[in-house]
Amino acid sequence: MSTETSNKIIIAIDGHASCGKSTLAKGLARELNYIYITSGAMYRAVTLYLLDNGIDYTDLQAVKKSLKKIHVTFKYNPTSFNADTYLNGIKVESRIRDKEVSDHVSPVSTIKSVRTFLVKQQHALGKNKGITMDGRDIGTVVFPNAELKIFLTASTTVRAERRFKELKENGMERSFEEVLQNVTERDHIDSTRSVSPLKQAKDAVVIDNSNLSRDEQLAMVLALARKRIKRSEK
Ligand code: DC
Repeated sequence: MSTETSNKIIIAIDGHASCGKSTLAKGLARELNYIYITSGAMYRAVTLYLLDNGIDYTDLQAVKKSLKKIHVTFKYNPTSFNADTYLNGIKVESRIRDKEVSDHVSPVSTIKSVRTFLVKQQHALGKNKGITMDGRDIGTVVFPNAELKIFLTASTTVRAERRFKELKENGMERSFEEVLQNVTERDHIDSTRSVSPLKQAKDAVVIDNSNLSRDEQLAMVLALARKRIKRSEK
């Protein structure tokens, strides 16, 4: 990987739940030899800590106090090309996707102290550019000056179908109706919360991927990224 930062850019990918944001961010990072961070994993790791330690997340003082004890890190996994999530040194990549965490992460992500704590770490991760980060507020709050911002969307049914398939493949049996309800609820909380709601950055490129394959989408965004990289070299 080059140590030169001048020709590296920041790619911010935001959008609704189960839109394929992390798949896209990961694909771009692999092609460009960039760091890939899925910021949702950070909110999930904080949620896991609170649940594991019996901390009531409606007690904002207790949450704030516990943040001092939370260290979320990532380690590149060369087998899966994934950036595996570690909570206080322990790999939690699988546990943060459990139903329990998925059911509680949205309310936890609305807590201001949690967002301030994680946004600070996200800034540090992007300090040298050469990063693709996906989330809900990456192009609006975390990296408002990102050279490329993508806003991904797809119909609710398509997203629920993808999530249903993914859960089934991972051996987690849930009814389609349950998955559809979870996707709809998360959309509602993410878009209506008062702190950093999910919204499109004015300068984001909007892509509806309901009818796009992963490869088509990757090729499209990669072409855009290469143009922006060229532009940043001038
Ligand atoms: O992308 P995900 O489903 O793993 O995200 C989990 C939750 O975290 C989701 O409810 C939205 C929230 N989140 C957020 O508020 N801001 C981000 N930058 C990323 C995720």
